[in-house]
Amino acid sequence: MKIKSICCIGAGYVGGPTMAVIAQKCPHIKVTVVDVNASRVASWNAKDLTQLPVFEPGLDEVVKEARGRNLFFSTAIEQAIDQADMIFISVNTPTKTYGKGKGMAADLKYIELCARQIAKVAKQDKIVVEKSTLPVRTAEAIKNILNNTGNGVQFQILSNPEFLAEGTAVQDLLNPDRVLIGGDTTKEGQGAIQALVDIYAHWVPQDRILTTNVWSSELSKLTANAFLAQRVSSINAMSAICEQSGADVNEVAKAIGMDSRIGSKFLKTSVGFGGSCFQKDILNLVYIAKSYGLNEVADYWEQVILINEHQKNRFSDKIVSTLYNTVSGKKITFLGWAFKKDTNDSRESAAIKVADNLLNELAHLTVYDPKVTEERIYGDLEYLNSRSEEENRELLTVGKDPYEACKDAHAIAVLTEWDEFTTYDWEQIYESMNKPAFVFDGRGILDTESLEAIGFTCYTIGKGSK
Ligand code: NAD
Ligand code: UDX
Repeated sequence: MKIKSICCIGAGYVGGPTMAVIAQKCPHIKVTVVDVNASRVASWNAKDLTQLPVFEPGLDEVVKEARGRNLFFSTAIEQAIDQADMIFISVNTPTKTYGKGKGMAADLKYIELCARQIAKVAKQDKIVVEKSTLPVRTAEAIKNILNNTGNGVQFQILSNPEFLAEGTAVQDLLNPDRVLIGGDTTKEGQGAIQALVDIYAHWVPQDRILTTNVWSSELSKLTANAFLAQRVSSINAMSAICEQSGADVNEVAKAIGMDSRIGSKFLKTSVGFGGSCFQKDILNLVYIAKSYGLNEVADYWEQVILINEHQKNRFSDKIVSTLYNTVSGKKITFLGWAFKKDTNDSRESAAIKVADNLLNELAHLTVYDPKVTEERIYGDLEYLNSRSEEENRELLTVGKDPYEACKDAHAIAVLTEWDEFTTYDWEQIYESMNKPAFVFDGRGILDTESLEAIGFTCYTIGKGSK
């Protein structure tokens, strides 16, 4: 089957960039990205490309090339479904906040809504592609809904999980380590797989396109995220031992990373991993393991999250204990709120938990982040429900200028590894602060020797005192 028209349901961090790259690389395919969120769609259509709802290096150029040519963003969901040969489902699959599996299982209500909408609208055979990260065997539920319409339309369900990381999404999409496609072993299933392979083959070498059955594909995505997060928790666990023992976690990471069996990536210690995927997907894995009665397996993976929580708490505890066991009324400036650099996304960012802990101690926080909006920062705190909206706004302010944000602070905490933080005039910052002036580097990006020469007292995560 030659695909001429694609619809993607969900214009978020995955749907937007993924479809923009497909449209760029396949100018002969009409790609329509639809969403129920009209303001998000309007931002994707904004003339001013700095207003795109997702900030990703290089994304503006891709959108500029394809938008209006064969890439469209729209709220006309039914029309786009009707016209498409292939439909990607790229909606959010957050952790359930109610009912059975609350706080663990993936909430599949948006996925089910999509399946029902496709079932209602489709008049011709279609290939439905799961792009969202889903629990193993979700395709079965989608299939049940789609196969019971009674209108004779045939659907093929494929699993095509997305492995892009935020901040490098465009590069990851243009040059993926692999593309994974799962489908049925039947003739029709294989035909659907081939149709999707043909799309990726426009720019991805054939040997990097893996095909498999649906269940292996679904489970591979959860497994990949669990393994990646596990590495971060492992090095973060070692960071605590380094601090106590006088070792330097960066040296340890370098030494072990040179072992080709271990490898050097994902060994950067931090204040804790964040992002919309790691925690959600591991919780989901834990839930699946428990539902199969595999309690030891569930406990094993849950530990990755517990260490991550510990790391965030350890960082805020360190700030409090260093500032003479009280931060009440003291100004502490956060450099960074995003869960990593080069994104405006702050979902599950470590900064949120560290801020919440310090606000519980009545610290006065000022946050400066180059890309995360003020609205989002307050939204993140309000979501926790730890205190009233007014209290959050009284205790925390959002700075527009880093130097202004650091003025009169007792301490600066680096929560995100934005490159610009290393280029600041740290002497000027030191002069404007309360003394003694402290820096807590939760990302290990600052040159602490120079900072100490200026007069700062520094703590770097994972670095023991000499
Ligand atoms: P997101 O919240 O940024 O975007 C999802 C979009 O879907 C939202 O704009 C929402 O309005 C829309 N939506 C929800 N239900 C809808 C419906 N019924 N009809 C139309 N639109 C609907 O989420 P995201 O970060 O893009 O993640 C999407 C999926 O991809 C998740 O399953 C996630 O686990 C997975 N994933 C995310 C990343 C990442 O880096 N963010 C990477 C790989 C995989
Ligand atoms: C992750 C996966 O990498 C990606 O393949 C998947 O598709 C979605 O989830 P993402 O969450 O966007 O991507 O970013 P990632 O680079 O994995 O970072 C996640 C978190 O771990 C960030 O908070 C980051 O700062 C932290 N991290 C990562 C570390 O603390 N140390 C590291 O060495 C790597």
